[in-house]
Amino acid sequence: MPKAKTFFQCQSCGYTSPKWLGKCPDCGEWNTFIEERKETLSSRLDLPVHLRKSEPLHLSSIQANYSERTSTSIKELDRVLGGGVVTGSVILVGGDPGIGKSTLLLQAISGLSKYGQVLYVSGEESPEQIKIRAERLLINTEEIILLSETSLRGILETAIKLAPKAMVVDSIQTIYTEDLLSAPGSVSQVRECAAKLMLFAKRSDIPIFLVGHVTKEGTIAGPRVLEHIVDTVLYFEGDRGHSYRILRTVKNRFGSTNEIGIFEMSDSGLLEIENPSELFLLEKPVDVSGSTVVATLEGTRPLLVEIQSLVARSNLGIPRRTTIGVDFNRVNLLVAVLEKRVGLHLGGMDIFINVVGGLRIIEPAVDLGIIATMTSSFRDIPIDPRIFVFGEVGLSGEVRAVNEAEIRIKEASKIGFMKAIIPLRNAEKIKEIPKLEIIGVKDIEDSLKALFA
Ligand code: TYD
Ligand code: MG
Repeated sequence: MPKAKTFFQCQSCGYTSPKWLGKCPDCGEWNTFIEERKETLSSRLDLPVHLRKSEPLHLSSIQANYSERTSTSIKELDRVLGGGVVTGSVILVGGDPGIGKSTLLLQAISGLSKYGQVLYVSGEESPEQIKIRAERLLINTEEIILLSETSLRGILETAIKLAPKAMVVDSIQTIYTEDLLSAPGSVSQVRECAAKLMLFAKRSDIPIFLVGHVTKEGTIAGPRVLEHIVDTVLYFEGDRGHSYRILRTVKNRFGSTNEIGIFEMSDSGLLEIENPSELFLLEKPVDVSGSTVVATLEGTRPLLVEIQSLVARSNLGIPRRTTIGVDFNRVNLLVAVLEKRVGLHLGGMDIFINVVGGLRIIEPAVDLGIIATMTSSFRDIPIDPRIFVFGEVGLSGEVRAVNEAEIRIKEASKIGFMKAIIPLRNAEKIKEIPKLEIIGVKDIEDSLKALFA
């Protein structure tokens, strides 16, 4: 008998090697190589003839239907997708087990069922289990077809027969194609199945949602491989301890990647949160130092979030610095700026920074908030709860203008904030807003004066 040919493949990025390696030379991950068997069968995709052919076309002769978007009836999801589901697109929804991916997609597919029949393929749950969930979500329509199947061939055969308006494949890790010998969930299988589903979506114009589990390292199994195959990658995040969930775009061929959608997991499924700022500020403590509110922007949407800090004398040789939700290096930089420009002795202090609500803020407009909250905690002086701030801070302590200042200010004023401490350049351009005092500051000394006056 001839020896089975095997090779080793990185389960994170798909790099292959003839021998086992401890560290992937391509993506740098450790311990990700798994032995896989070389495929022996042909891997031609069996599509019906009318879906198989493809001819060269004049660019000018093509009618782009990408602008054709279908609403899922879930506004938060539509926004993250860039305004609805694009015909023939493949959307990967990643997230930890139990976060609510199946719930979200059952609700989405139910919204899409008003345009016709839709298909929900599950490789993980039985139709009875899905029915129980649907009852909880009060979904009861004739148009949803359930299929419990893990073979790609079977799924495609059903999809071709039914020609649904949209379909969900839950999850890509449970699906396998007979063309490959490796186990379901391995990089080769996941990649091959996703690629075939992608081809099918493009040829048939059926949009497909794929569920992708996140591995314990925090990446969708074979993340890089999948990310460049599909059109859109969404991550569903949130702590188990909290009921709200954030849907974030990581990649989108048909829209912006900065959008987020915010949901709350309730007894009867995911609810959209229309006023997230209010939710994030609900439990903000009053008269406590080390807490401040920043008007930040997530995509096109303004959000007011609380940033907390704890600055305490360290009894370690090297003080501890921990940040949750903001960039660690950015905080270190701002600590240095405060020391040098204002003379705050933060060198021997443990510093902890936390963005409330599990949000992550990457934009520099949060700088002034970090400066404010650290100073407040260090001096143990609370910041007036009616104040909010934003602004980028430079190395010489200057406060720089940020984009979309007006949107941020309006959102804050809507919620009832009364005093804005913002970059001078932004303040000069803002028209007066009733019941809101706007203080433009040019450097951090100015800001601290305004904050602790
Ligand atoms: P699920 O969608 O099965 O998660 P995933 O597909 O990402 O693994 O959701 C699982 C959790 O959501 C489960 O712990 C129960 C909870 N849940 C609710 O709180 N309310 C609901 O209406 C539903 C359907 C689920
Ligand atoms: Mg699930």
